Parts: sequence; structure tokens; C-alpha cells
Amino acid sequence: MKKTVALIMTAILALSFAGCGSSGNAASGSSVKTVTGGVLTMATNAYFPPYEYYDADQIVGIDAEIAKAVADKLGLELKIEDMEFDSIITSVASGKADIGLAGMTVTEERKKNINFSDSYATGVQVVIVKEDSDIKSVDDLYNGKKIGVQLATTGDIYCIDDFGQENVEEYSKGNDAVMALVSGKVDAVVIDNEPAKNYVAANEGLRILDTEYVTEEYAAVINKENTELLDAVNKALQELKAEGKLDEIISKYIKSE
Ligand code: ARG
Repeated sequence: MKKTVALIMTAILALSFAGCGSSGNAASGSSVKTVTGGVLTMATNAYFPPYEYYDADQIVGIDAEIAKAVADKLGLELKIEDMEFDSIITSVASGKADIGLAGMTVTEERKKNINFSDSYATGVQVVIVKEDSDIKSVDDLYNGKKIGVQLATTGDIYCIDDFGQENVEEYSKGNDAVMALVSGKVDAVVIDNEPAKNYVAANEGLRILDTEYVTEEYAAVINKENTELLDAVNKALQELKAEGKLDEIISKYIKSE
């Protein structure tokens, strides 16, 4: 009996060591542990140009390129998984993805479930309206206007707080909210400034209000347990900043006016 137990224990130990071996990245030269050995699995929601969007069947954009540059520095292969914005934090927190990059705003609430890397960009929540709209500033939204937002984004959270749940329409994608504005289902859309510029350029008759709503910082999200990956990502980001690579990626997608 004792022997059987010992044998089982040995088998379990052997298995758990094998497990470590396959999730460590010894073979690829990287020492950082990831969900799949040698691979940096990134969660995103690829309907957020210029940060992430589809070019044919490829996900491209600022976040995709930053993640690729970070993965290169870590000796990992980048794999991008597209999902609902709402699922990104859950996917990272539950250990399905290693990292989330999605123009994700740093908030205290989100910090309860994941760690944020150092910030790599700034975002501003702005208001898109129809060109002939009587909404001239953020304050005009207080008059019971219907506001379209992307579900679970900071725009969604702030608008519910400021203008009441009954005035906020949540859409699973940012462009669905913009389509609702075009067809007159909502009076305004609150969304991040860079995607807003893209949507306004792609659709006739829309404009962005001059008054900004909220300024925020974007960062990558990482599982709370994997502080080793957090440190490695922050180091890589710092190097990319120092090398001018970060600016290069951002200015490839955002033309300063
Ligand atoms: N910055 C906003 C937030 O964190 C919106 C991000 C939406 N990103 C996306 N890839 N759809 O809530």
C-alpha cells in the first residue's frame, strides 16, 4: 500500500515537473512563464482603430505592434486573440491569456482583478455627434440625450454615472454605437479620441465636440500572479521608449495635426 502511494507521489511529481518544463520557455531562450510555453498570448477587441483593427484577416494597429515588439524582446512568439472587450480582463485574470492590450484605460476598479503595466499612451473620451446636432458641449448631454457607448468601456462607466443608465445604450462594438448615431437611434457617442477620428472620417455628417470629456492613460493588463511577466513587460516598454520605437509605432498610426 505504502509503495503504491509512493509511486503515485513520484508520478505526480514527475508530471508537475514536466508541466513546468512545458510552460517555461527554456527552449526559446526566454525565462518568462506564459500560458503556452514560448508564446505570448494577447487578448484584445479588434474594433478599435488605430489601436487594433482588421486589415484583411490580420489584426494590426498600435497595440498589435507594441505587443509584437515586447514579445520579440522577451523571445516569445506573439499570438493575438480577438474577443469581446468585456472578456479581456476575465481572460487574463483566469489565466487564458497572458496579456491584454486594447487601448485599455487604467482604473482603480480594474486593478482589483489584474495588474497594469506602465502606461504607453494617453487617451481622451470625446463626444461624437451629427454635424447638425444641437449638442454643442458635454453639458448638453445632461438634457436626457441618448448616448451610445461600447459595453464595459470607461466611456460606458462614466456616462452611466453622469447621465443615468436610462440614457445610455451599450453596444458590443464601438462601430455599432457609431452606426446607431448615423441612423438616429442615439444622439451622441462617447468613445476614445483616436477611434473617434477614424469613425468620423469613415462616415459622412459626423463631428467630434471640441470639449473633451475625460483624459486617461492606456496600459497593458497582466495576471496578478505573473509579476515576473509584469516586470519583463515594463522593462521591454522602457527600452522601446528609450529606443524611440514606441514613438515610431504610435506616429505610424496617428498623424499629429
Ligand atoms: N479606453 C477605453 C477603456 O478602457 C475603451 C477601450 C476599448 N478598446 C477596444 N479595443 N475596444 O474602457
